[in-house]
Amino acid sequence: MKTLIVKTKTKNYPIFIGKNILKQFGNYQNKYLKNSNKLLIISTKKIPKKYFNTLIKNIKKKNIYRCIFPDGEKIKENSYLIKITDILSKNNFNRNDCIIALGGGVVGDLSGYAASIYKRGIKFVQVPTTLLSQVDSAVGGKTAINNRFGKNIIGTFYQPNFVLIDTDTLNTLPEREMSAGFAEILKYSLILDKRFFNWLKINGIMILKNRNRDNNIISIAIFKSCMLKSKIVKKDEFENNYRAILNFGHTFAHAIETATNYSRKIIHGEAVLIGMMLASRLSNHLGYLKNSDLKEIKNMYEKLKLNFKYKKFVSLKNMNKIFKIMINDKKSFGKKTKIILLKKIGKSLIKETTLKKSFIPLIEKDIKNGNY
Ligand SMILES: NC(=O)c1ccc[n+]([C@@H]2O[C@H](COP(=O)([O-])OP(=O)(O)OC[C@H]3O[C@@H](n4cnc5c(N)ncnc54)[C@H](O)[C@@H]3O)[C@@H](O)[C@H]2O)c1
Repeated sequence: MKTLIVKTKTKNYPIFIGKNILKQFGNYQNKYLKNSNKLLIISTKKIPKKYFNTLIKNIKKKNIYRCIFPDGEKIKENSYLIKITDILSKNNFNRNDCIIALGGGVVGDLSGYAASIYKRGIKFVQVPTTLLSQVDSAVGGKTAINNRFGKNIIGTFYQPNFVLIDTDTLNTLPEREMSAGFAEILKYSLILDKRFFNWLKINGIMILKNRNRDNNIISIAIFKSCMLKSKIVKKDEFENNYRAILNFGHTFAHAIETATNYSRKIIHGEAVLIGMMLASRLSNHLGYLKNSDLKEIKNMYEKLKLNFKYKKFVSLKNMNKIFKIMINDKKSFGKKTKIILLKKIGKSLIKETTLKKSFIPLIEKDIKNGNY
């Protein structure tokens, strides 16, 4: 078992990473939730029941309440938030009591938001069960729900009391979700750490393919990713500037996700894989990234069979819609947008520019050439 301490201005908290550690929940509870007499577990119907049962079995005697919601992004919405806060109110949860999020990023974002606003903040624990949530959404304290105008529009920064990552939960995760999580792992290496990129070149396949899955390799990748993310969060918890590098590849990714209505046609990490290749090409086109580095990134995609083609999602017909979404992105301020580029593998830069001068000509050219 590995432990990592995340240090922020608002809270320091541990992340526990290990095999079969859900069983040890009671030990962490003793230490970090001493005064919580009531616990609300939030999960969804599609998350294998065995994790929920193990958690319940290993919680030290307390009043336990549960919310089992339907699956999918649609629960990151006001009506589900109200369901949670109603349960908390009816059962008179106080600020020492706790919400436990058991699931992927959807459950974590919704639960964290509820924990942050109920009585202006109660205790909160993340038990992430997807690779994406283990390496990204459960760390760093961003919480959110969506409204009809957009994704993650309503949210807070609210750090958990601890994060428990049981890597065995990944044994039931479909390969498609593994590659979505891998996208964020690859992102950390591209923006921050060339050595990690080289390590992923060799070990990536063991993370991506069910039949080759190696728990130890996965634990290392999760630990390294959480460590890299926590360093960024420590420097810039509230995303005043530096934390924006975590959005590498995300401007275009959000646009294609929004254009497909967040359907299962493309999931977040798949869109990020496409967005990161486009951002790498743009970095090269603008003269920041060397040809040899771009080639290395392309080789990595090819070796690991990661998709970067986006013809299925962008055409002459919906091109303007995609551009409009990109321009309205949260990262846009007036006419300018913060775009994240690569200087080299392992080093990023933030540039304020207009999309008309950056991404848009590249996408237009791709569409004209037809091979994209
Ligand atoms: N807060 C942040 O910093 C942050 C960062 C990145 C993404 N996000 C958010 O995270 C969400 C995406 O998270 P996600 O990719 O984890 O999606 P998700 O929560 O929808 O989970 C993906 C699917 O996997 C299933 N699942 C979860 N655990 C499983 C397991 N162990 N075995 C089998 N199936 C399992 C879920 O039921 C779901 O169908 C989005 O809403 C995104 O906005 C937040």
